[in-house]
Amino acid sequence: MHVKFLLILISMVVLMVASSLVVSLATENQGAENIELAGGKRGKVPFPHRQHQKNLADCQICHSVFPQEPGAVQRLKAQGALKKKYVMNKLCTKCHKAKKKAGQPSGPTTCTKCHVKEKD
Ligand code: HEC
Ligand code: HEC
Ligand code: HEC
Repeated sequence: MHVKFLLILISMVVLMVASSLVVSLATENQGAENIELAGGKRGKVPFPHRQHQKNLADCQICHSVFPQEPGAVQRLKAQGALKKKYVMNKLCTKCHKAKKKAGQPSGPTTCTKCHVKEKD
Protein backbone atom coordinates (compact mmCIF):
# COMPACT_ATOMS: atom_id res chain seq x y z
CA MET A 1 0.00 0.00 0.00
CA HIS A 2 2.65 2.44 1.12
CA VAL A 3 5.04 1.56 -1.73
CA LYS A 4 2.29 1.99 -4.31
CA PHE A 5 1.52 5.49 -3.00
CA LEU A 6 5.20 6.39 -3.07
CA LEU A 7 5.51 5.15 -6.68
CA ILE A 8 2.55 7.24 -7.75
CA LEU A 9 4.03 10.26 -6.02
CA ILE A 10 7.41 9.75 -7.69
CA SER A 11 5.91 9.30 -11.15
CA MET A 12 3.85 12.44 -10.65
CA VAL A 13 6.95 14.44 -9.78
CA VAL A 14 8.82 13.00 -12.76
CA LEU A 15 5.93 13.92 -15.05
CA MET A 16 5.77 17.45 -13.69
CA VAL A 17 9.49 18.02 -14.16
CA ALA A 18 9.39 16.54 -17.66
CA SER A 19 6.46 18.66 -18.81
CA SER A 20 7.95 21.86 -17.43
CA LEU A 21 11.15 21.02 -19.28
CA VAL A 22 9.24 20.62 -22.55
CA VAL A 23 7.48 23.94 -21.98
CA SER A 24 10.71 25.77 -21.19
CA LEU A 25 12.46 24.25 -24.21
CA ALA A 26 9.63 25.34 -26.49
CA THR A 27 9.52 28.89 -25.19
CA GLU A 28 13.09 29.43 -24.05
CA ASN A 29 14.95 32.46 -25.34
CA GLN A 30 12.48 33.35 -28.07
CA GLY A 31 12.04 36.83 -26.59
CA ALA A 32 8.97 38.99 -26.87
CA GLU A 33 6.59 38.73 -29.82
CA ASN A 34 6.64 42.49 -30.27
CA ILE A 35 9.35 44.85 -29.06
CA GLU A 36 9.42 48.61 -28.78
CA LEU A 37 12.84 50.03 -29.57
CA ALA A 38 13.98 53.47 -28.45
CA GLY A 39 14.41 55.74 -31.46
CA GLY A 40 15.75 58.96 -29.92
CA LYS A 41 14.04 62.23 -30.81
CA ARG A 42 12.40 60.63 -33.84
CA GLY A 43 10.22 58.55 -31.54
CA LYS A 44 10.05 54.89 -30.63
CA VAL A 45 10.16 52.06 -33.15
CA PRO A 46 7.67 49.19 -32.90
CA PHE A 47 9.40 45.99 -33.99
CA PRO A 48 7.50 42.76 -34.80
CA HIS A 49 10.13 40.36 -33.41
CA ARG A 50 8.28 37.07 -33.92
CA GLN A 51 7.40 37.94 -37.49
CA HIS A 52 11.08 38.48 -38.25
CA GLN A 53 12.05 35.24 -36.51
CA LYS A 54 9.60 33.40 -38.76
CA ASN A 55 10.72 35.16 -41.95
CA LEU A 56 14.46 35.11 -41.37
CA ALA A 57 16.14 31.77 -40.95
CA ASP A 58 18.98 32.90 -38.70
CA CYS A 59 18.77 34.65 -35.32
CA GLN A 60 22.39 35.71 -35.78
CA ILE A 61 21.49 38.09 -38.63
CA CYS A 62 20.59 40.50 -35.82
CA HIS A 63 22.01 38.87 -32.69
CA SER A 64 25.59 38.83 -33.94
CA VAL A 65 25.34 42.63 -33.58
CA PHE A 66 23.69 42.66 -30.12
CA PRO A 67 22.87 39.90 -27.60
CA GLN A 68 19.46 38.31 -26.97
CA GLU A 69 18.66 40.56 -24.02
CA PRO A 70 15.96 43.18 -23.48
CA GLY A 71 17.41 46.67 -23.92
CA ALA A 72 20.64 45.36 -25.44
CA VAL A 73 20.73 47.90 -28.27
CA GLN A 74 20.30 50.92 -25.98
CA ARG A 75 22.80 49.54 -23.47
CA LEU A 76 25.51 48.99 -26.10
CA LYS A 77 24.87 52.43 -27.58
CA ALA A 78 25.16 54.03 -24.13
CA GLN A 79 28.45 52.17 -23.57
CA GLY A 80 29.76 53.37 -26.93
CA ALA A 81 30.07 49.74 -28.10
CA LEU A 82 27.48 50.25 -30.82
CA LYS A 83 27.14 53.35 -32.99
CA LYS A 84 23.85 55.24 -32.88
CA LYS A 85 21.69 54.36 -35.91
CA TYR A 86 23.95 51.40 -36.75
CA VAL A 87 21.17 48.86 -36.17
CA MET A 88 18.72 51.08 -38.03
CA ASN A 89 20.99 51.61 -41.06
CA LYS A 90 22.98 48.36 -41.28
CA LEU A 91 20.24 45.93 -40.26
CA CYS A 92 16.67 47.23 -40.50
CA THR A 93 16.75 49.64 -43.43
CA LYS A 94 19.50 47.86 -45.35
CA CYS A 95 17.60 44.58 -45.39
CA HIS A 96 14.24 46.18 -46.18
CA LYS A 97 15.75 48.05 -49.14
CA ALA A 98 17.46 44.92 -50.47
CA LYS A 99 14.25 42.88 -50.21
CA LYS A 100 12.28 45.62 -51.93
CA LYS A 101 14.83 45.79 -54.73
CA ALA A 102 14.60 42.02 -55.18
CA GLY A 103 10.81 42.29 -55.41
CA GLN A 104 10.29 40.34 -52.18
CA PRO A 105 8.03 41.11 -49.20
CA SER A 106 9.74 43.84 -47.21
CA GLY A 107 9.42 46.29 -44.35
CA PRO A 108 9.36 50.09 -44.09
CA THR A 109 12.21 52.22 -45.46
CA THR A 110 11.04 55.73 -44.56
CA CYS A 111 11.47 57.53 -41.22
CA THR A 112 7.83 57.93 -40.28
CA LYS A 113 6.89 54.36 -41.19
CA CYS A 114 9.29 53.04 -38.54
CA HIS A 115 9.36 55.84 -35.96
CA VAL A 116 6.18 56.66 -34.09
CA LYS A 117 6.06 60.14 -32.63
CA GLU A 118 4.45 60.34 -29.23
CA LYS A 119 1.40 62.57 -29.31
CA ASP A 120 1.29 65.25 -26.67
C1 HEC B 1 15.58 41.16 -37.49
C2 HEC B 1 16.35 41.16 -36.28
C3 HEC B 1 16.18 40.04 -35.26
C4 HEC B 1 16.15 38.68 -35.49
C5 HEC B 1 16.30 37.94 -36.80
C6 HEC B 1 15.99 38.07 -34.19
N1 HEC B 1 15.93 39.03 -33.22
FE1 HEC B 1 15.78 38.71 -31.20
N2 HEC B 1 15.79 40.72 -30.88
C7 HEC B 1 15.87 41.68 -31.87
C8 HEC B 1 15.78 43.00 -31.25
C9 HEC B 1 15.81 44.33 -31.98
C10 HEC B 1 15.66 42.78 -29.87
C11 HEC B 1 15.51 43.83 -28.77
C12 HEC B 1 16.86 44.27 -28.29
C13 HEC B 1 16.72 45.45 -27.36
O1 HEC B 1 15.75 45.50 -26.58
O2 HEC B 1 17.59 46.34 -27.39
C14 HEC B 1 15.68 41.33 -29.66
C15 HEC B 1 15.60 40.72 -28.42
C16 HEC B 1 15.64 39.36 -28.20
C17 HEC B 1 15.61 38.73 -26.91
C18 HEC B 1 15.59 39.44 -25.58
C19 HEC B 1 14.25 39.42 -24.94
C20 HEC B 1 13.32 40.45 -25.46
O3 HEC B 1 12.17 40.10 -25.68
O4 HEC B 1 13.72 41.61 -25.66
C21 HEC B 1 15.66 37.38 -27.12
C22 HEC B 1 15.65 36.30 -26.06
C23 HEC B 1 15.72 37.17 -28.55
N3 HEC B 1 15.71 38.40 -29.18
C24 HEC B 1 15.79 35.93 -29.16
C25 HEC B 1 15.84 35.74 -30.54
C26 HEC B 1 15.88 34.42 -31.18
C27 HEC B 1 15.90 33.10 -30.44
C28 HEC B 1 15.91 34.65 -32.53
C29 HEC B 1 15.90 33.63 -33.64
C30 HEC B 1 14.86 32.63 -33.61
C31 HEC B 1 15.89 36.09 -32.74
N4 HEC B 1 15.83 36.71 -31.52
C32 HEC B 1 15.93 36.70 -33.99
C33 HEC B 1 16.02 41.47 -33.22
C34 HEC B 1 16.04 40.25 -33.84
C1 HEC C 1 13.40 50.27 -40.75
C2 HEC C 1 13.09 51.12 -39.62
C3 HEC C 1 13.69 52.49 -39.53
C4 HEC C 1 13.68 53.49 -40.47
C5 HEC C 1 13.16 53.44 -41.89
C6 HEC C 1 14.29 54.64 -39.85
N1 HEC C 1 14.68 54.33 -38.57
FE1 HEC C 1 15.65 55.57 -37.27
N2 HEC C 1 15.87 54.04 -35.96
C7 HEC C 1 15.38 52.77 -36.12
C8 HEC C 1 15.82 51.95 -35.02
C9 HEC C 1 15.52 50.47 -34.85
C10 HEC C 1 16.58 52.78 -34.17
C11 HEC C 1 17.29 52.38 -32.85
C12 HEC C 1 18.57 51.61 -33.12
C13 HEC C 1 19.69 52.43 -33.68
O1 HEC C 1 20.04 53.52 -33.14
O2 HEC C 1 20.29 52.01 -34.68
C14 HEC C 1 16.59 54.09 -34.77
C15 HEC C 1 17.21 55.20 -34.23
C16 HEC C 1 17.11 56.49 -34.72
C17 HEC C 1 17.56 57.68 -34.05
C18 HEC C 1 18.17 57.75 -32.65
C19 HEC C 1 19.65 57.51 -32.64
C20 HEC C 1 20.19 57.76 -31.24
O3 HEC C 1 20.56 56.81 -30.56
O4 HEC C 1 20.22 58.94 -30.85
C21 HEC C 1 17.29 58.75 -34.87
C22 HEC C 1 17.58 60.20 -34.60
C23 HEC C 1 16.68 58.21 -36.07
N3 HEC C 1 16.59 56.84 -35.95
C24 HEC C 1 16.29 58.95 -37.17
C25 HEC C 1 15.77 58.41 -38.36
C26 HEC C 1 15.53 59.19 -39.56
C27 HEC C 1 15.78 60.69 -39.71
C28 HEC C 1 15.02 58.31 -40.49
C29 HEC C 1 14.65 58.59 -41.94
C30 HEC C 1 15.70 59.12 -42.78
C31 HEC C 1 14.94 57.02 -39.85
N4 HEC C 1 15.40 57.11 -38.57
C32 HEC C 1 14.46 55.86 -40.48
C33 HEC C 1 14.58 52.33 -37.17
C34 HEC C 1 14.34 53.03 -38.33
C1 HEC D 1 17.46 40.56 -42.88
C2 HEC D 1 16.23 41.24 -43.19
C3 HEC D 1 15.52 42.11 -42.18
C4 HEC D 1 16.02 42.80 -41.10
C5 HEC D 1 17.46 42.81 -40.61
C6 HEC D 1 14.93 43.54 -40.54
N1 HEC D 1 13.79 43.31 -41.23
FE1 HEC D 1 11.94 44.18 -40.87
N2 HEC D 1 11.14 43.04 -42.34
C7 HEC D 1 11.81 42.15 -43.14
C8 HEC D 1 10.87 41.49 -44.03
C9 HEC D 1 11.23 40.42 -45.06
C10 HEC D 1 9.61 42.03 -43.75
C11 HEC D 1 8.27 41.67 -44.40
C12 HEC D 1 7.63 40.57 -43.61
C13 HEC D 1 6.31 40.12 -44.17
O1 HEC D 1 5.77 40.74 -45.10
O2 HEC D 1 5.80 39.13 -43.65
C14 HEC D 1 9.80 43.02 -42.68
C15 HEC D 1 8.79 43.78 -42.13
C16 HEC D 1 8.95 44.75 -41.15
C17 HEC D 1 7.91 45.59 -40.63
C18 HEC D 1 6.46 45.63 -41.10
C19 HEC D 1 5.65 44.58 -40.41
C20 HEC D 1 4.23 44.56 -40.95
O3 HEC D 1 3.51 43.63 -40.59
O4 HEC D 1 3.84 45.44 -41.71
C21 HEC D 1 8.47 46.39 -39.68
C22 HEC D 1 7.78 47.45 -38.84
C23 HEC D 1 9.88 46.04 -39.60
N3 HEC D 1 10.13 45.05 -40.52
C24 HEC D 1 10.78 46.65 -38.76
C25 HEC D 1 12.12 46.28 -38.66
C26 HEC D 1 13.07 46.88 -37.74
C27 HEC D 1 12.75 48.00 -36.78
C28 HEC D 1 14.26 46.23 -37.92
C29 HEC D 1 15.56 46.44 -37.19
C30 HEC D 1 15.55 46.29 -35.76
C31 HEC D 1 14.06 45.23 -38.97
N4 HEC D 1 12.75 45.31 -39.39
C32 HEC D 1 15.06 44.39 -39.44
C33 HEC D 1 13.17 41.90 -43.14
C34 HEC D 1 14.09 42.43 -42.23
